[in-house]
Parts: sequence; C-alpha cells; structure tokens
Amino acid sequence: MHLSGKNVLLGISGGIAAYKTPDLVRKLTASGANVRVVMTDSASAFVSAMALQAVSGNPVHNSLLDPAAEAAMGHIELAKWADILLIAPATANVMAKLACGLADDLLTTLFLATKADVYLAPAMNQQMWAAHATQRNLTMLENMQVTIIGPAAGEQACGDVGAGRMTEPQEIVEHIHGVKAGEQAANLAGKTVMITAGPTQESLDPVRYISNHSSGKMGYAVALAAVEAGADVILVSGPVTLPAPVGVKIDYVTTAQQMHDVVMAQIDLVDIFIGTAAVADYRAKVLKDNKIKKKGEELTLTFVKNPDILKNVAALSDAPFTVGFAAESQDVEHYARSKLKNKKLAMIAANNITTSGLGFNSDKNALHVFWENGDRQLGPAPKKLLAQELLALISEHYKNKISN
Ligand code: PMT
Repeated sequence: MHLSGKNVLLGISGGIAAYKTPDLVRKLTASGANVRVVMTDSASAFVSAMALQAVSGNPVHNSLLDPAAEAAMGHIELAKWADILLIAPATANVMAKLACGLADDLLTTLFLATKADVYLAPAMNQQMWAAHATQRNLTMLENMQVTIIGPAAGEQACGDVGAGRMTEPQEIVEHIHGVKAGEQAANLAGKTVMITAGPTQESLDPVRYISNHSSGKMGYAVALAAVEAGADVILVSGPVTLPAPVGVKIDYVTTAQQMHDVVMAQIDLVDIFIGTAAVADYRAKVLKDNKIKKKGEELTLTFVKNPDILKNVAALSDAPFTVGFAAESQDVEHYARSKLKNKKLAMIAANNITTSGLGFNSDKNALHVFWENGDRQLGPAPKKLLAQELLALISEHYKNKISN
C-alpha cells in the first residue's frame, strides 16, 4: 500500500493510451490511493466515463463549472483535495497548454489551481514527441517541478516505432512511489546546498574554446531535488541551454576560474557542496588576442592547470559536507575511490560515461555512490528521480555526520 491515504487526481487527455486508464485507476487504488478522475472532451473518444466511475468509485469530472459542487467551483475543490495530480496520457496539446499556463478546460485549470505534486505520463506519435516545440515544452514543465514519467519506446498505434508510448500503468505507480519515498527521505530544511553544474568553456582565442559534452541536466536535477528537500539552493552553472530551475539562486559562469571564484565567495554559507560540473582541468596558457591562423599541418598549444574547485572546497578548515562526481570510462570503482581519498570527500557519485543513453547530455543516468566504508548503486533512472535518490542518501550521511 505504497500510496496509502494519498488523494490522486487522475487527468486523462485524448490519446489512444487512454484505454489503459481503467487499469491505471485499479493499480492506484490497489496502492492505497483515493482516486478521482478528470477527463478532457477528447479523452471520452477513447475511454468511457462509466468505466472510470466504476473502477474509481467516484463520479468522473469534465466541466469547469460544476453545479453539483459547493459554490459551483468544482475545480477549486478538486485542486485542494489532490495530493497528487497525475496526467496520463498527456498529449502534446495538453503539454503545450500546461507549459504556457492556458486554462481553457477543467484539467488545465486544475493544473494552475493546485498545490499538488504533478506527474505527467506523455503519450504521442514519436515524431510529435521529438518535435522541437514538444521538447521545449517538456523542459519548461520540468523546470516547473513537474515530474515526467516516460514515455516508453516501441511500436506505436499509428505503426511508427520510437519514443512516445505511455509508460505502463504498473510502472507509473511504481515511479510515483519511488519519487515519494525519495522526497520523504531527503529533508534539508534550513540547510544551504551549493551545486556546480554543466561544463566550463576555456577560450583559446576570440573565436574558439575547449569544453565538453555536459548539458547541465544532472546538476539542474540535483538542484531541483535539493529545493524539494527544503534546502536553500545556490546553483553555480556553466554555459547550458536549460532554463533556470524555479526556487534556486543561480550564478552563471563560463570558465573554471570563474566557477572557482564564485563558489569560494559564498562557501561560508554552505552546509553541503555537490560538484556535478564537468570542469575543464586545463586552460590555454596564453589567450590569443587575435584568431589563431592556419599554419602547417600541426598546431601546438600549451595548457596550464585550472584550480580544482572540489578539492579546494574539501580542504577548507571549516569545509561543508563535500560530495564529488566522477565521470569514468574504465575501472569506475578504483578511480572513484582514489578521488574520494585524494580530494578528501565525504562521498562521490561515479558514472560510467561509456554506457550508451546514460551520462553526458542524456535524460537518464546511473550512479555508483561511494563513501569510506560503503557504496550504493542508484539507477539507471531519469536524472530527476536519480537526483532525489542521491539527495536522500546525501541527507542521511550528512545527518549522521553532524550528529556524531
Ligand atoms: O551535465 P550532464 O549532461 O547531465 O552530464 C552529467 C555528468 C556526466 C557531467 C555528471 O554526471 C558528472 O559525471 N560530472 C562530473 C564530471 C567530471 O568532470 O568528472 P571528473 O572525474 O573529471 O571530476 C571529478 C570531480 O571534480 C567532479 O565533481 C568535478 O566537478 C570536480 N572538479 C574537477 C576538476 C576541477 N578543476 N574542479 C572540480 O571541481
């Protein structure tokens, strides 16, 4: 009974996957949740309100102004009732409306009116899912702290093959339970957490720089998870294309030296420091004033070492609880444990960056977290879920440390 006593408002929009929602309602109620259902007009073309009423044991809602509701404002009553708003399937159209804050039917109005945790299980044609507009809306929704479940990949109702199938009902329920468990475990109210994220860029001349493939997704997910855990969050971000997460103080930097300086200027405030950034270890010894001209078959440049931000933070006399990341391509445990020891860290989260679909610039990751006398494997999972699990683990170790 994972969701015991939770009020789950299930919003169904008009996609073929809506036929799976009676099963989803059954699985939610079997997990202990109280379920009420809201349907858009087009959802009723794919699943019957009668079936949903029968399995949920409650009338199905569709109208914005409900004469049967107290004060005829059913949307406000439902919005207050819900602990969780789950929209499954979430069509491209509904995602676009939610991202823009449109409220032209009951479901989209509830999204604006509720304080509940919101989960979306997208379902659409693979090309629609990949479309620039959908991906932009997805990023906007993630930054509004909406949890996205799926979509799964495979054969689609239209005959296409690719990502866009609604995640299966059982997995949706397990996912919500996993996030809830993570949130409950991480409680960092009153603590300040600083996170570095993204790549750094080191200029060679006015035109060129060296950098790496970090997108910032892992670090931004950790920042959001820290906000959800109640912490005050400072995010020091290299150049990325992600929108700023809601509820964090964000400082943008370009180079490793700038990241170092911004971190050190505020480190006295920080209880927990988490270095997810892929910081360039070296920069050009000389930054050329003019564009380097093409000459001969080879080009030799000299690089000098950048400051090691993580190591310098952990070496402070009043150091915060310091957690590093390690991007490794071989002997993950050996290299991660060496960094843990050499940089005097409390914990280190290692990822094998050779695993396809995980790590740099992807939506999922898997972490092997090490500390002096133990380790824990997390994932593979979406970075948002992984970040919550990581924060729960960090919070547990941090509390043990300060209570000793
Ligand atoms: O941003 P994404 O696309 O989501 O990808 C996530 C990620 C793969 C970048 C992330 O999960 C990750 O592995 N981050 C650490 C990358 C890295 O630079 O690892 P490293 O093994 O080279 O560095 C070890 C640690 O030292 C890291 O915590 C790093 O932030 C820190 N470091 C490194 C060099 C330096 N000069 N200063 C540092 O603080």
